[in-house]
Amino acid sequence: MTTTTPSYADDAPAVRCDNLVHVYGTPGAEVAALRGVDLLVRPGETVGLVGPSGAGKTTLLWHLAGLLKPTAGTVEVAGHRLANMTPRDLASLRLREIGVVLQNPGRNLLPYDSAVANILFAQRPTRRSRAAKRRRALGLLEAVGLGGAATRIAGQLSGGEQQRLAVAVALANSPGLLLADEPTSQLDPVSAQAVLELIRAANVDNGTTVVAVTHDEAAAVALGRTVTIRDGRVGAEGRAGEDYVVVGRDGTIQLPPDLLEGLPPGTLARAVKHEHGVDLRRVYQPGEGHDQDGDR
Ligand SMILES: Nc1ncnc2c1ncn2[C@@H]1O[C@H](COP(=O)(O)OP(=O)(O)O)[C@@H](O)[C@H]1O
Ligand SMILES: [Mg+2]
Repeated sequence: MTTTTPSYADDAPAVRCDNLVHVYGTPGAEVAALRGVDLLVRPGETVGLVGPSGAGKTTLLWHLAGLLKPTAGTVEVAGHRLANMTPRDLASLRLREIGVVLQNPGRNLLPYDSAVANILFAQRPTRRSRAAKRRRALGLLEAVGLGGAATRIAGQLSGGEQQRLAVAVALANSPGLLLADEPTSQLDPVSAQAVLELIRAANVDNGTTVVAVTHDEAAAVALGRTVTIRDGRVGAEGRAGEDYVVVGRDGTIQLPPDLLEGLPPGTLARAVKHEHGVDLRRVYQPGEGHDQDGDR
């Protein structure tokens, strides 16, 4: 049997971005939202994307979902170079393998259908029986605390309820990759906890790789690995609550904002090699004459 369904290569990284650049807008009015993102996510990892508003987190997530085309650089999901896929194969990959929760919860849903119908519709590419689809849908609604809302119309749910339903829809087919943009932003702590537990269960039980944008520090730390996007680049990475700067492909690093006080932009510093790495020693303050030497 031939099929156009893209295969899910076992040994491929779940996500790989190489020097990903995205420029919005038209000539003369461009915004460089991503300025060379390198990112590798292995299958089964859970990653929190953090960083200030406007840093490029949503743009990066849209690229991973195949919803934008790179201005330059490449994006691979499960070994597939998204820009090279036909629209049909890309749609198929998204439907079967990628669950997406967009930042605006309403955009993930069929607004005129009931909550349960939304999760049933999401399962259309699966071979599950009708009864199994229904069981899956009701189980997910229960897990996100919407057990009593199965027949309510999605468009009439509150923002927080829509957000929870959107997560249930995204997980309906046990995707290989879950992409979620601030999935708990409109939730009270109890509902947020339930959503995070559902996501964690998908990871543990099904091996779902998770990339989630979050403002919630606790949620980010709970995901284990955090990637900080600043000014369209990967500025830092966190592991087990510790933050590290990332040395970029061209040798650049972004200093954490709290260190910029000691090394403001324009500083001339001496990079001094030592046993465990390199120290940066301020020599000239911005605008300082070159006869002074602040190196101690
Ligand atoms: N559709 C768009 N057209 C033009 N500029 C955009 C568009 N979407 C986002 N931007 C700009 O791109 C940058 C990154 O935005 P975004 O990816 O939404 O960041 P974040 O999710 O981290 O807040 C911002 O400067 C934003 O204003
Ligand atoms: Mg955003």
